[in-house]
Amino acid sequence: MSTRGTSPNLALNEVVAHRRAAGERLVHLGFGESRLPAFGPLVDRLVAGAHRNAYGPVAGSPGVRAAAAGYFGRRRMPTEADQVVVAPGSKPLLMALHHVIPGDVLLPRPAWNTYAPQARLAGKKAIGVPIPRECGGVPEPSALRASIAEARARGRDPRMVVLTLPDNPTGTLAPPAIVREICAIAEEEDLLIVSDEIYRDVVHDPATPVLSPAEVAPERTVVTSGLSKSLALGGWRIGVARFPAGPAGARLRAAVVAVASEIWSTLAGPMQEVAEYAFGEPPELLEHLAASARLHGAVAREVHRIVVSAGARCRPPTGAFYVYPDLEPLRETLRAVGVTDAPSLTEHLLDAYGIVVLAGHHLGDEPGALRFKAATSMLYGETTEEQWLALAAEDPVNLPHVRKVLDVVEDGFRKLCSS
Ligand SMILES: Cc1ncc(COP(=O)(O)O)c(C=O)c1O
Repeated sequence: MSTRGTSPNLALNEVVAHRRAAGERLVHLGFGESRLPAFGPLVDRLVAGAHRNAYGPVAGSPGVRAAAAGYFGRRRMPTEADQVVVAPGSKPLLMALHHVIPGDVLLPRPAWNTYAPQARLAGKKAIGVPIPRECGGVPEPSALRASIAEARARGRDPRMVVLTLPDNPTGTLAPPAIVREICAIAEEEDLLIVSDEIYRDVVHDPATPVLSPAEVAPERTVVTSGLSKSLALGGWRIGVARFPAGPAGARLRAAVVAVASEIWSTLAGPMQEVAEYAFGEPPELLEHLAASARLHGAVAREVHRIVVSAGARCRPPTGAFYVYPDLEPLRETLRAVGVTDAPSLTEHLLDAYGIVVLAGHHLGDEPGALRFKAATSMLYGETTEEQWLALAAEDPVNLPHVRKVLDVVEDGFRKLCSS
């Protein structure tokens, strides 16, 4: 039996629950969940869908697939319903892609902590490529070329590159010029692009240009997305994949549907009801999405301000709900308190200041680097009342219940960095 560990973010959740049960007060920024309540009309659709108790088609019913096709179409990716597969989360769709696409996988380094273990579960090698200075979610183009050449020289066979637009863990969005460069490399090197766009509707400023590789290299891009992040529905498990048009895309989709048919059968009927409504994007839902993105942006920028004023380097967040600080400028100061790498840094933050973050090495980063991910979406409040208040606030970071936790974070970082 293989004894692979639990995903590090889920394991961290258990540590937090344990220590909280023992009476510790912790600020948990170690889990990538949007702490917002379910939007009322989504709950109504879930209830209305309760009667949908039959299995239904593996790829999803025609209605939900047509709605998802419309969603992609409104984002400059013209889509037919038969290019779409819905599933219980995008995680299983990504895993199915790893199963059906041969060869090894190129990943940005750092990247979301699930891509590399999924690749390994499918018997592949995950090849981490450093990210550019200005953003994460994509490999730095010249490093990508070098990594492909080096991997091939070692007898590896990279065939797929995963991009995260916007990115977890850096909370940034790759600009169109870099996306185009990656697409050009994918064409030259014959790579399939998997574009994970689960944070696409969590771009903080609606004026920010978003370019999907599916617009540039449509015949070689699979887009995955879902409702876990933008609509805070992680526990409802609704994911979607869009496959390229044409025969090669249809073959790839059929292979993923075959895996789906043997593992999860279909997305739960009531969730298809929810997804059909959500992908239809009625005005009230768009308003809710816009308010959520504003809140995510305001709090992420505030945490960015806090870590930068404590002396960290950190890319300014523009999407999703994360910051990825680098405490390298403070290495000497931190050595004095026994902090020399990512594991000792995150342990010290937890033990000395009750701040929980995810160490960078869990995301493929160098263990010796003083980097970590903080999920800023955990700061909106403990109760649904507090979370609704945060969503409605003009200036959410100065709401008393939000400020109180931000003050703990600010105090902790100030002390850590002047220790
Ligand atoms: C980049 C990224 N992709 C995919 C997922 C998985 O989402 P889902 O809930 O659709 O499985 C996550 C969740 O943390 C994520 O951060």
